[in-house]
Amino acid sequence: MEKIIEEEKQGTAVVLEQKQENKRKLYIESYGCQMNFSDSEIVASILTKEGFNTTTVMEEADLVLVNTCSIRDKAEQTVRKRLEKYNRVKERSNPHMKVGVLGCMAERLKSKFLEEEKIVDMVVGPDAYKDLPNLVAEIDEGREAVNVILSKEETYGDIAPVRLNSNGVTAFVSITRGCDNMCTFCVVPFTRGRERSRDPYSIIEEVNDLWEKGYKEITLLGQNVDSYLWYGGGLKKDFKKASKMAQATAVDFAQLLHKVANAQPHMRIRFSTSNPQDISDDVLHAIAAHRNICNYIHLPVQSGSDRILKEMNRLHTRDEYMRLIDRIHAIIPECAISQDMIAGFPTETEKDHQDTLSLMEYVKYDYGFMFAYSERPGTLAARKLEDDVPEEVKKRRLNEIIDVQRRTGLERAQYFVGKTVECLIEKESKRSDQHWAGRNTQNYVAVFPKENYKVGDYVMVEISDCTSATLIGKAVGYSDMESPLTFDTKS
Ligand code: SAH
Ligand code: F3S
Repeated sequence: MEKIIEEEKQGTAVVLEQKQENKRKLYIESYGCQMNFSDSEIVASILTKEGFNTTTVMEEADLVLVNTCSIRDKAEQTVRKRLEKYNRVKERSNPHMKVGVLGCMAERLKSKFLEEEKIVDMVVGPDAYKDLPNLVAEIDEGREAVNVILSKEETYGDIAPVRLNSNGVTAFVSITRGCDNMCTFCVVPFTRGRERSRDPYSIIEEVNDLWEKGYKEITLLGQNVDSYLWYGGGLKKDFKKASKMAQATAVDFAQLLHKVANAQPHMRIRFSTSNPQDISDDVLHAIAAHRNICNYIHLPVQSGSDRILKEMNRLHTRDEYMRLIDRIHAIIPECAISQDMIAGFPTETEKDHQDTLSLMEYVKYDYGFMFAYSERPGTLAARKLEDDVPEEVKKRRLNEIIDVQRRTGLERAQYFVGKTVECLIEKESKRSDQHWAGRNTQNYVAVFPKENYKVGDYVMVEISDCTSATLIGKAVGYSDMESPLTFDTKS
């Protein structure tokens, strides 16, 4: 099943359009969450103005940057292995190349990185990318450079990202940074700082600009998008200290969705990630109200046991989560729902694990991202709880979780067989150059013969077969999203 992630996501990125006058070469590699991939586009934008063009050939790079992930130990080990590879390239064929570490590992390890890894010249945390021109100047002069200061304000709202490795159809637009939730297992609040939201006008401007450039789908990004709250800038936690005027005119996530959906009614809108304790019924009604907001919610739960949810500091119960699922189905018919799960959190018993499996049976998730618990230094769980579930037990429970997900995923996919669904064509199918791949509103990938359709078209696809992650069918014409005249919004 494609959606079950066993390896961390990774990618080396290049911009299609290179600036002729730029003489230096940047190799940039990203690991981890979508936010890291989006941040790399901001970094590329900043460095393009400093005379860099991107390359996928490390041997010719002047500067090699790796945007890192700390979420699980394995993610950090992957980056350490990459650093060894950079070292070999530097020794063998590119003695002048400089190496910078960005992202969550940079923030977590700070200047310790320079001591631990000789290859590293520069360490830059997620809020310090605007300082890159100065930091690069430092390393050019042979010094080491570090900036890991977390910010109360920074949202990079004023930087137009350079789209890396783009299919020209789908793009990320970041709307919040940081996370205030303090789930006890999670390193993100430490590496990405406190929550702040981006000015809605700059978000809409970016969306309009993407539409002008031919993009058809955006994903609004944040660690916890439902917590979005713009009241003129500053930390979310300081909202209560803002003026009455600022509070009265604040924009929340549901309002932002309405604004974005209305600004570009033919642009599809997705968002990630939703948090069960923060998603409001207003958000559900906003999704239902707009034809162009996709019927898909990524709604991590982590565990189905009330006791474990409490230990994780997830601020809802199993029952509240189940009632939320019921409301989603009542308000948004045919909404797809996906999960994140953690197997083997400290103190998890067989009974807790069974509660997770039974919750999964209740929800019947469309997809899932499932992980064995990995203790992260400095988190509350690491400080207060012993990592006491043996590795083989974690693995067995994880496999049982994956098995249920495979089964419900297939059941959910089969629902579409015999139906005709609207898909946005994104790229060629991985398995055949005669087929397109596009997603439907529920985020299922459909593959179908290319015929005369092209990338970026909205088409109606008759589904005749499926696997647990892919729908198989044939296009039967354009959808009304293609035609502004017949197009009819639900609102
Ligand atoms: N709100 C974030 C969550 C980031 S972490 C978002 O935008 O996706 C993504 C997922 O990694 C979490 O939902 C959780 O399931 C998993 N995860 C986080 N910390 C973990 C840990 N210490 N061990 C195992 N999995 C973890
Ligand atoms: Fe991590 Fe929980 Fe925030 S999983 S990113 S602390 S919502």
